[in-house]
Amino acid sequence: MALDFRHILKDKTQLDHTRVDTALSGFDVATQAGLTGFLDIHHACFSQMRIASDNDAELQAGLTDMIDRIDADLRRLGARPSCATIGLDAAVDPLAMAYLVEGSRLGSKVLGRRWASSDDPNVLAADAYFSLEPVKGRWREVCDLLAAVPPDSTRAATISRDTATLFRLFLQTAQGAASDHATPKVLAS
Ligand code: HEM
Repeated sequence: MALDFRHILKDKTQLDHTRVDTALSGFDVATQAGLTGFLDIHHACFSQMRIASDNDAELQAGLTDMIDRIDADLRRLGARPSCATIGLDAAVDPLAMAYLVEGSRLGSKVLGRRWASSDDPNVLAADAYFSLEPVKGRWREVCDLLAAVPPDSTRAATISRDTATLFRLFLQTAQGAASDHATPKVLAS
């Protein structure tokens, strides 16, 4: 049976995801330095994504919640957002945006276990971002919306392009931050 667009998109961007995962894995969220770097990168990228979602209230609200939580965590860690990032200079399809937002929540569930295993009380006190639960049913909803997009359509091409752009945003931001924050520890998943 032919794959639907939700699965085509996953296959197409698997390598992009792996690259982001690898770049972020240098930031051990169980340590203060690693958690600070990890949160700072997310703050920078989510802020760019929020700017690019200015006509979608639901996306904006979700991104604002994550950004506010990261702000609170960085304050607890004695840090401020300082990460440089690239701008998103073109409109981004809201479904590509939702795919990345909800996908990052899936990744955070995995990383949250590493964060929760920390023996550093300062790390554990910065709990706003990792205690955020994904909106119930939202991931399923995004998958269903993607599956309904005809794979050969212009919309599908736009979503594929914009998903790759958003993964690149995270990759370049993480690579740029690596020299400032990277810790030698590699995450166990
Ligand atoms: C070290 C960092 C990360 C790890 C360990 C990680 C891990 C994971 C895991 C385990 C899944 C599959 C979850 C499941 O199927 O239940 C997943 C899915 C996903 N992640 Fe990540 N992730 C990371 C960072 C990110 C970031 C920063 C983004 C984008 C902002 C992202 C976007 C996605 C997307 C879009 C999916 C859904 C793939 C699909 O099924 O179509 N991830 N991630």
